[in-house]
Amino acid sequence: MGTLGLILVALGVILVSILWKKMMVLLWRPYVLKKRFKEQGVSGPEYKFRSGSFVEVRRLEDEAREIELDVNSHDILPKVAPYYYKWANQYGGTFVYWVGPIPNLCVTDAEHVKQVLSNKFGFFAKPKVTGALLSLLGKGLVLTDGSEWARHRRVVSPAFTMDKLKVMTKQMAECAQSMIETWNIQMDSTNNEQKAIEVNKQFQELTADIISHSAFGSSYIEGKEVFTAQQELLMLTLASFNGSVSETKINKHKQRLDKKMRNTLLSIIENRMNSKDSLGYGNDLLGLMLESTEKQEGTGLNTDEIIDECKTFFFGGHETTSELLAWTTFLLSTNQEWQVKLRDEVVKECGREIPKADNLSKFKLMNMVLLEALRLYPPVPMIGRVAANDVKLGDIMVPKGTAVSIPFIVIHRKKELWGEDADKFNPLRFENGVTKAAKHPAAMLAFSVGPRACIGQNFAMLEAKTVMATILQRFSFTISPEYKHKPVTLLTLQPQDGLPIIFKPLVY
Ligand code: HEM
Repeated sequence: MGTLGLILVALGVILVSILWKKMMVLLWRPYVLKKRFKEQGVSGPEYKFRSGSFVEVRRLEDEAREIELDVNSHDILPKVAPYYYKWANQYGGTFVYWVGPIPNLCVTDAEHVKQVLSNKFGFFAKPKVTGALLSLLGKGLVLTDGSEWARHRRVVSPAFTMDKLKVMTKQMAECAQSMIETWNIQMDSTNNEQKAIEVNKQFQELTADIISHSAFGSSYIEGKEVFTAQQELLMLTLASFNGSVSETKINKHKQRLDKKMRNTLLSIIENRMNSKDSLGYGNDLLGLMLESTEKQEGTGLNTDEIIDECKTFFFGGHETTSELLAWTTFLLSTNQEWQVKLRDEVVKECGREIPKADNLSKFKLMNMVLLEALRLYPPVPMIGRVAANDVKLGDIMVPKGTAVSIPFIVIHRKKELWGEDADKFNPLRFENGVTKAAKHPAAMLAFSVGPRACIGQNFAMLEAKTVMATILQRFSFTISPEYKHKPVTLLTLQPQDGLPIIFKPLVY
């Protein structure tokens, strides 16, 4: 055989080995894994070559986009999670579907969920994130794992203790007051007794304002610039997911926005380090984080890591809390008797005065309503993990590399856990606290449970109580006839076409 012949044979061997590897990944492995799950009683939709369940997921999501629900219905799964709804009905609460050739195990059994989220021995890791989403969040608390995560959490936690957060409620109330001032001006100028306001957008602006103040104190204007850039990056990321903007365009913008965010944050941090006084670095999240990192003796965070945590606060704490406010306002608009009860509670506790931190802990009914809103409309409707090793989940052997998804929104509606009225708005189920509200103590998952539970949950609850109390003191409100009940997941659970609410000033 001549040289050419040898080259052709070598190329042939390489080609066959590449094809062989592809076949293993795209055909053989999914076949074997599907069989292995089936033998353990876990089934699900067919695996389609290369695309897995993607085409079916897209089709069901497209159909669901048009669904409009009755305004009093909280039976939102066919609209919000159509493929979970379909497959859970067909295959039971635990089923496997396919993200390309990767199996995705959907878990809704409360004990299984608890096991995944307790993440003993690091068996269930966070999914790897790259590209625009990584720039958006940085390698902050949300994305790190293992000892890196533990080091970050150690530094960040002291900023979220109740005594530190209580100091921030004054600022939260001031931001809420200033939003309400603008509503009052709009009403005065039109001489109207009542006015429809699209609150979803308003709450997004308000929570951006609050997190900017709480994170950066007096530097909040520069801080807000960072968050605006981050918001822009989020929009680009979402556009890249649905393919409406090209990768090249996204990368160009990404670099520009990244640079802008980094430079602004760097300058805020440097200024703060230079202005340390006898009281420390200040009582905002940044100041508390700098103080905490200084105490860690060599295991604290460096400037880049602090920058990433600042990005994480906004990403984690902005839209989530604004959606909690939006769905609570929606539920109080459609359940007037609860609106009256909450107003009575607020007025009894603090009259028309600005609510203070100590008042907030006495808002028992308000707490129950917020929890019920988080149950029925969890701002983070589902989360994911990846099996880092072959691991036993209850009786199921889960192979390494399997994605695991935990749809909170489904678990929050399981009748076995919440009773026959699981789809109904009933805040009283939380009368004896979160752990006693359902048949399993960890059935309420809006802030997740276990070591990776939301670090900002007390912050979010204080913020929501402050804002709702401020609104209830001044207005009665009803849902606008323009409202279309179409919840949708766009990272967080949102009203698809906004949330117009009719506000009427209260006369005392
Ligand atoms: C209603 C409001 C909120 C909801 C529903 C919510 C929900 C969640 C959930 C479900 C997780 C777990 C994610 C996972 O493990 O994959 C989480 C984690 C996290 N949240 Fe929140 N969150 C809210 C508000 C906030 C706020 C206000 C902040 C900060 C100011 C914040 C910061 C974080 C951070 C840093 C993590 C990661 C914690 C870790 O992994 O150690 N969140 N949140």
